[in-house]
Amino acid sequence: MARGERRRRGVQSDGARTAERRGGPARRDGRRGEAMGAPGRPALAVVVLALALALGLSGSWLLSWQRARRAVTLHPAPPALPPDSSSPAVAPGLFWGTYRPHVYFGMKTRSPKPLLAGLMWAQQGSTPGTPKLRHTCEQGDGVGPYGWELHDGLSFGRQHIQDGALRLTTEFVKRPGGQHGGDWSWRVTVEPQAPGTTALPLVSLFFYVVTDGKEVLVPETGAKGQLKFISGHTSELGDFRFTLLAPTSPGDTTPKYGSYNVFWSSNPGLPLLTEFVKSRLNSWFQHRPPGATPERYLGLPGSLKWEDRSPGGQGQGQGQFLIQQVTLKVPFSLELVFESGSARGGGRQTLEQLSGSLLTQALKSHATSFRERFEKTFRLNEKGLRAEEQALGQAALSGLLGGIGYFYGQSLVLPDMGVEGSEQKVDPALFPPVPLFTAVPSRSFFPRGFLWDEGFHQLVVQRWDPSLTREALGHWLGLLNADGWIGREQILGDEAQARVPPEFLVQQTAHANPPTLLLPVAHMLEGGEPANMVFLRKAFPRLYAWFSWLHKSQVGPVPLSYRWRGRDPALPTLLNPKTLPSGLDDYPRASHPSATERHLDLRCWVALGARLLAQLAEQLGDTEAATELGPLAASLEAEEKLDELHWAQELGVFADFGNHTKAVQLKPRPPQGLVRVVGRPHPRMQYVDAMGYVSIFPLLLRLLNPNSSHLGPLLDVLADSRHLWSPFGLRSLAASSSFYGQRNSEHDPPYWRGAVWLNVNYLALGALYHYGHLEGPHQARAAKLHSELRANVVGNVWRQYHSTGFLWEQYSDRDGRGMGCRPFQGWTSLILLIMAEDY
Ligand SMILES: *[C@@H]1O[C@H](CO)[C@@H](O)[C@H](O)[C@H]1NC(C)=O
Ligand SMILES: *[C@@H]1O[C@H](CO)[C@@H](O)[C@H](O)[C@H]1NC(C)=O
Repeated sequence: MARGERRRRGVQSDGARTAERRGGPARRDGRRGEAMGAPGRPALAVVVLALALALGLSGSWLLSWQRARRAVTLHPAPPALPPDSSSPAVAPGLFWGTYRPHVYFGMKTRSPKPLLAGLMWAQQGSTPGTPKLRHTCEQGDGVGPYGWELHDGLSFGRQHIQDGALRLTTEFVKRPGGQHGGDWSWRVTVEPQAPGTTALPLVSLFFYVVTDGKEVLVPETGAKGQLKFISGHTSELGDFRFTLLAPTSPGDTTPKYGSYNVFWSSNPGLPLLTEFVKSRLNSWFQHRPPGATPERYLGLPGSLKWEDRSPGGQGQGQGQFLIQQVTLKVPFSLELVFESGSARGGGRQTLEQLSGSLLTQALKSHATSFRERFEKTFRLNEKGLRAEEQALGQAALSGLLGGIGYFYGQSLVLPDMGVEGSEQKVDPALFPPVPLFTAVPSRSFFPRGFLWDEGFHQLVVQRWDPSLTREALGHWLGLLNADGWIGREQILGDEAQARVPPEFLVQQTAHANPPTLLLPVAHMLEGGEPANMVFLRKAFPRLYAWFSWLHKSQVGPVPLSYRWRGRDPALPTLLNPKTLPSGLDDYPRASHPSATERHLDLRCWVALGARLLAQLAEQLGDTEAATELGPLAASLEAEEKLDELHWAQELGVFADFGNHTKAVQLKPRPPQGLVRVVGRPHPRMQYVDAMGYVSIFPLLLRLLNPNSSHLGPLLDVLADSRHLWSPFGLRSLAASSSFYGQRNSEHDPPYWRGAVWLNVNYLALGALYHYGHLEGPHQARAAKLHSELRANVVGNVWRQYHSTGFLWEQYSDRDGRGMGCRPFQGWTSLILLIMAEDY
């Protein structure tokens, strides 16, 4: 994933939100697209063709038009998932979920027009001025640590959130029944952080329900202004009812006194919910429990009144937003219950409400079965890991599962016109609306789908629940365009788009990304589980189209060489033009980008893909594909050819090849700031002397024979502390490299230039384990390095987790410190498989 790009976005996205706050228009999905609407229907093609002929337009014009059209046309292969696979009728168990990873606590349905429920909170009177309203996960809001302690990806979870003096616990349990996704219940417990606190804070919780569309919500209020319940109906959910129960002391049923406020309006647009509540939080109220001194608090209006904010007053069409504010003294617990009408057989059956002691019981039994299943799956206890390490493993899994989201919307796509550098001549077009069920790298910073991250995510998820992985892979493969391309970053829907500045929304169809989805596919193939094989049979045409596109579109001029399209141009401000499609962003490549360079990591990914798809084709009995892929795989794996293209004798490792010189520096040149200065020797075609993750890729992807004469030298580089070895894991770039720890520009700190990344350390550990189990001259050494590296990585991630409460995006190779964004429960969650030695 393009992390450098994402980092800039992160910084700017605050700006984007600020602009919105200042009254910019709310962006609504699809509207924007009307102007640029993408052509896609065959009838249109005929008309255009006829027009082109009539006007005597050139063949190249037609070709461009055709290319642009294919870029935003979905691939014709049958879907890998059954029709309506996300609907409550087909998958009732997955219909409701914590599919809004960017909020601290919320649930929604897997639907293009979902029903959403969420929580905001604020501590009253702690500081002068407006209380801080918590809602979406933010890097800089001072909340944390937070994260799921337990989450099974399906029907249960428990999360802890530390917010200053407060400690919140959010729990949910689902209960199957009926045809509409069943029931669920929430329990939110708020306690003082420090036990024995005397000045107990006054806290407001805001429970809200949002609809997007024509659904009906009917609130019913009680005597104190509290909502007794909200009943409603949607076509997907049928009849349902939300009930917010009276607050109690935590852990028992003693009622506590709460003050109520309520607000009801048309849906202002999902990205604007927080600001909207803040703007209505402007009246002072008195919280007066019997026998206690009254306290002032800021509240929403006191009584239920419909406010229509939509132009023309047609609020019903764009949905509703209904919020109940409950204010009381900590400690307390509050429960919200969602009941589905169809689970009650249209009212004929009575079902005890999932609340109070029944909810306590359900939470307990889910927690117990989670722990049992966790041990059965990962065997950390059996392997002798300490209780705290097991808890880290559980949090890694839970954070990843709790980070699964459901997105729906349209991407902006820039078609590949076949000529590099000509992109500016075409306009971005809108991709068709698509759903995506995916885990996310980071709830606070990258709460959306990233293609190469997802392959690593699913390695963990599939060990726990293979059906979730089939869902995710099926969705990702559903994004294929007619050429076999998948965009590397998926920014779908209002909420996702609101966090990305417009200039970064566009995905280019010339650009690839590492095909890591093949890693979980390889694991499926190895296991041979029948349900997985059925899925792979369905998915094969899409996997094949995706791989074929990669292998053909990124090929180099020399046979069996490959090049990432889309490197940055050689700008005077950049030390080394970045290669965002590779996922390794600023990892140094040839100093002067050219069409003749050869990228080692990409060649290895293609080799892995060819091998895997050839095996899959064979197993599925697809002889045609097997006949094509088998020989390709064999030639990509032949070590002589790899040597010829990538073995750098003078460096003693594998390397990229390109137009390169070492003599490049950033020098201060006032007033421009840092400027790239190229000295002598001049660039020439040669191996790129940047030792790091790329240099050991044939080892990482296990492409070398255990007897290979290159295995020894790669292990040397890996194990040498002047190069890749650090006490905290393998560093991305050798400490001996001239790029080590270097900024890429005045505004671009080092990213893949030394830091320890968990995804690549996982691959390395898998490879060492692999060679440690195969007979060969390096068997014993590989096994020894495996256990040392594993101890280093586990030890450091554990220490950082223990001291900060978070998993991090990357770790410093100098002192082990967590760096980048947090929580990063995407591929850093691989720490679980590392502890389990499951590769
Ligand atoms: C390498 O880059 C330099 C500087 O841009 C250029 O003058 C030279 O022609 C390039 N060499 C090759 C072989 O592409
Ligand atoms: C490596 O070499 C040894 C000894 O010559 C041989 O027994 C073994 O089969 C070879 N391994 C592979 C995978 O070729």
